[in-house]
Amino acid sequence: MRIDKFLSNMGIGSRKEVKKYIKDGLVLVNGEVINKPTKKVDIDKDKVEFQNEELIYEEYIYLMMNKPQGVISATEGYSYQTVVDLLEDKYQKRDIFPAGRLDKDTEGLMLLTNDGRLAHSLLSPKRGVIKKYYAQVDGVLEEKDMEAFEKGIYFEEEDIHTLPGKLEILSDHECYVYIQEGKYHQVKRMLAHVGKEVTYLKRLSMGSLKLDEDLLEGEYRSLTEKEVEAIKKDGGQQ
Ligand code: URA
Repeated sequence: MRIDKFLSNMGIGSRKEVKKYIKDGLVLVNGEVINKPTKKVDIDKDKVEFQNEELIYEEYIYLMMNKPQGVISATEGYSYQTVVDLLEDKYQKRDIFPAGRLDKDTEGLMLLTNDGRLAHSLLSPKRGVIKKYYAQVDGVLEEKDMEAFEKGIYFEEEDIHTLPGKLEILSDHECYVYIQEGKYHQVKRMLAHVGKEVTYLKRLSMGSLKLDEDLLEGEYRSLTEKEVEAIKKDGGQQ
């Protein structure tokens, strides 16, 4: 990778700014000042320093966001703000995308990454990674709704049955829903099938990954090493 790309990806500055830093002799590769922005570095072997600090390049980035309402889970939204728009500049250039979808009016856990392989395996229905949602509904939740969820629910539009899900009733109008797939509007449609309209929906977890309760709406943080290891296991990669 070119050193100027490396530095701008690391959030050191724009391509123009990092070229200037290189010209000014502020960048060292393996202990030597370099002066060409085109210089190639090997991210696994070369030691890059900027203003006397070593820069460790992360190839893959894993972020968890508490997605707010009103923002779409896409990389480009045309007329809407996207979850990627909420990220700092240094992440904008790293090809990060949301792993899975949440509706515009759904809040909660969103995994953002540039690790396509992991995202793909976590989302594959074959892996059966359980997603947990908290929902508020109009209409009174009943025990027979739990049975319907256990059997899986028929979606007429696509002529398919969902895999079995789980409904945990918290009160007349509140529940947790556990599903193993991610079909379009799945939670809302499963609840609609038992006559309940969702008025509020929040994703709380995805496999082993739990939404950090300290994250305010729209905030995000990097996953810890432990969290990354655990989701890789969820995705069958370790
Ligand atoms: N199910 C839904 O209906 N909406 C979401 O955003 C996620 C799951």
